[in-house]
Amino acid sequence: MEEMVGEFWDRLRDQFWITRQGAYLMNAAVGGVHERVHQAVVDWHRDFTCFGAIHDEMNFEMISGARKVCSKLLGVVSEDLAFTPNTSFNMNLLALALKNASGKRQIILPEDEFPSSVLPWFHHGFEVVQVRSHQGRIHIEDILRVVHGNTAAVVTSAVQFLTGFRMPLVELGQSLKERGVPLIVNGTQQLGAFEIPFERAGISALSASGHKWFCAGMGQALFVTSKEFREKISWPLVGWTSVEDCWSLKNEPPRIRKETSSQEIGTLPFANIVALKGAAELISEVGLEKISKQILSLSNELEGRLREAGAEIVSCRDSEDTNSGIVTFGLKKIRDGNEFVKKLAQQKVYINARRGYFRASIHYYNNSEDIDHLIRNISSPCD
Ligand SMILES: Cc1ncc(COP(=O)(O)O)c(C=O)c1O
Repeated sequence: MEEMVGEFWDRLRDQFWITRQGAYLMNAAVGGVHERVHQAVVDWHRDFTCFGAIHDEMNFEMISGARKVCSKLLGVVSEDLAFTPNTSFNMNLLALALKNASGKRQIILPEDEFPSSVLPWFHHGFEVVQVRSHQGRIHIEDILRVVHGNTAAVVTSAVQFLTGFRMPLVELGQSLKERGVPLIVNGTQQLGAFEIPFERAGISALSASGHKWFCAGMGQALFVTSKEFREKISWPLVGWTSVEDCWSLKNEPPRIRKETSSQEIGTLPFANIVALKGAAELISEVGLEKISKQILSLSNELEGRLREAGAEIVSCRDSEDTNSGIVTFGLKKIRDGNEFVKKLAQQKVYINARRGYFRASIHYYNNSEDIDHLIRNISSPCD
């Protein structure tokens, strides 16, 4: 039985060509693309090259198919979901929407956030309160303590990009609901690796870029808003497809559609959405729960081996409920992290240097050999 399980993962690993480069442990930066996803994009380009708008109908069917499979994976209805360029764009949209919706001007965020979650709020004139973490762990009480009447929203990553801390979203969302405060989630480091409990956590808006654990290549994000949230805001942007009956092509003051997809501004990048669709289909086939378990198991092995090798583990790794595939560590003997990462790459070991630490991020198509390969090279630094 164990052998069969091993064979299952080995077969999948072979289909991710990035694994042929060596120990690829940069999944929190950019995830590998499955060969089938690559082929779907190539096929789409070929068809488009040969047939252009003659195949318009097929192309639009592809978009609605992508919307269906992605929304099913997230447990939301198609009306809630839009395809947008990235999380920075989505956070700008949300900041502008909330600025128009009420006079509330305070945004609460964990201090460990990736800048995409943070900079738009500063830029659009919000007071940004950053909550400290404790060895990577973010305490929900610390967030709730600073919530007050002027709080427009709490914004958090589902998984922190640096520490890998996985936020208990359901607990946070329920506590915020009781206080009438919207929860906005950056799911970029969670999408494709762990379930994002959009409904159960009562999330108002979610942005998740597709190029990391979702393995869909660069330049596309999922943007989800709840109906309840949409009813309270008005969208700040408009394009020709943002209105009902866009094909009537009328030049009159626009009445913006109710769906989140009204914020897909203009013509979509179809090839990127082909990749999203393929990636979502693969995840549904393999099974998200199975993927999460495999990531947790490999990341435990990685953490254990790093500790044995004398690394200082920076990630908060004290519970399966808040662990992720990101294991961040320090190495005392290394002075220049960027230089060391370059040297590791020469040995075909790929990790990231981030804010003075090393980040190894392990996906389901990695294996114990990748971990061995990393450990060998940090135990006897390649200098
Ligand atoms: C948590 C998180 N959000 C967002 C991004 C990317 O932001 P964007 O989609 O705006 O390029 C990253 C990493 O690149 C990230 O780690």
